[in-house]
Amino acid sequence: MTVFTKSFIMGLNINHMDKIIVLDFGGQYCHLISRRIRDLGVFSEVLPARTTASELEKISGLKGIIFSGGGLSVFDKTSPKGHQNILELGVPILGICYGHQVIAHLSGGIVTAGQAGEYGITKLKIKKRVSVLSSLKSTEPVWMNHRDVVTKLASGYQTLASTNHCQIAAFGNVAKNIYGLQFHPEVTHTPHGQEILRNFALKICRAKKGWGVENVLTDLTQEIKQQIGTSRAVIGLSGGVDSSTAAILVNQAIGKRLTAVYVDTGLMRYRETEFIEQVFKKYRLNLKIIRAGDQFFKALKGVTDPEKKRKIIGRTFIEVFDRVAEKEKAKVLIQGTIYSDRIESGITQYASTIKSHHNVGGLPKNMKLRVYEPLRDFYKDEVRNIAKKLGLPESIARRHVFPGPGLGIRIVGEVTPERAEIVRQASHIVEEEIAKAGLYNRVWMAFAVLLPIRNVGVEGDARSYKFPVVVRIVESKDAMTANFAKISYKILETISTRITNEIKAVNRVVYDISNKPPATMEWE
Ligand code: XMP
Repeated sequence: MTVFTKSFIMGLNINHMDKIIVLDFGGQYCHLISRRIRDLGVFSEVLPARTTASELEKISGLKGIIFSGGGLSVFDKTSPKGHQNILELGVPILGICYGHQVIAHLSGGIVTAGQAGEYGITKLKIKKRVSVLSSLKSTEPVWMNHRDVVTKLASGYQTLASTNHCQIAAFGNVAKNIYGLQFHPEVTHTPHGQEILRNFALKICRAKKGWGVENVLTDLTQEIKQQIGTSRAVIGLSGGVDSSTAAILVNQAIGKRLTAVYVDTGLMRYRETEFIEQVFKKYRLNLKIIRAGDQFFKALKGVTDPEKKRKIIGRTFIEVFDRVAEKEKAKVLIQGTIYSDRIESGITQYASTIKSHHNVGGLPKNMKLRVYEPLRDFYKDEVRNIAKKLGLPESIARRHVFPGPGLGIRIVGEVTPERAEIVRQASHIVEEEIAKAGLYNRVWMAFAVLLPIRNVGVEGDARSYKFPVVVRIVESKDAMTANFAKISYKILETISTRITNEIKAVNRVVYDISNKPPATMEWE
């Protein structure tokens, strides 16, 4: 299998744009920082922590560098330390969490192994409301997630803010424009975090705004033509915003040489196949619909381990694909992978794998197709904007995300056609009621999970012994963190009543009130 490793962005005409580079020290939030910078209209890309000062110097339009957070400690032998001479480039630098500690360490300050650490929202007391912290209040809630602490700064550096547990929660070397923040400004739990990033990108780095989806579409079409050449290509069209956008983008670039394959895995949403047929009939898209549910259920028989299920679904998917691709004489497999898929699959150099997303982590090594991911460097909101520009309907552009393994990871335990039907219907009811209440666009996902247990209930005068269903509705901006949605009891009651009335096998509905972390959105 060949994966195009080169970021497509290298093919885009971004040379003229001002840039802020995020160095990846392994934090899960590394790409989120870059996205927040792009939200400000400034181009940002993530490079590995090992990137040298001379490599950075060669980047045209480089206006600033951000050292991301990371899960390791500067005391670990193998942890990424970055290069000291980056601090001498004369380019503004911002260190976040572990990046804050790396800057202190490289500049001659002292980092001390923390005892208890500091996790969650804490009160930042700002001593000097200048530079990155200008325009903030004297106390601000910020989100912390660290163990080690910076205890001493090198000369030229001064403390800008503290918390009760962390004396040096923000520092700055104003002459050199180098700053460190022990907290995470990029997450939504830090309400004025974007203000801090704006101060850095626009005021300190003086980066000019040049990034926007409309600026890159023409270049992206060019890039797709170059990458695919005269080959034929196939794409798995799931009906999600990512694969739909990738399909239409590539279709517009290479026309009928692209075959879009919609595989009904038996684990799709309610009436999904009809929906797909209806949405895509307006495009001149070579669309093939393959009903392969039996094959998936057979492969999943007796399997209960979530990661095994993901791998099996991924593998079966590729098998089905390979058959179509061979028939179509396709050489390239287009995937709708976006930035966030790559993060959670542990693709950043130092991040640990949380879940292997099947469209990335589960690809078999012997696949005959070359993989090309035109959206690999775009973030979700950017993909939604591209979808709208391509004329895809709101029902696709604003659609909730749906995991690659589909309902397979919403059925705890063994996946069977009967169980898939229960969870499909229950999820449909949840989505329908959330949409009726006008909440669809306000939540990240709304779905049901089927548990592998049964419980006692009463129906009429008789005892029942049936499955409970979990309703999970979450709010999130970035999929990295999430809160359970505070849905009114009235809506929850309607959902619960409908599920137990309309689905014979269910007699109880519970609402999941967990946030992420510590839970994840999906149950598996
Ligand atoms: P978690 O459960 O990790 O989910 O909090 C975060 C987001 O990722 C989706 N998700 C997946 N998407 N393949 C995918 O394509 C997967 O294996 C997978 N697992 C989770 C999930 O639906 C949520 O939006």
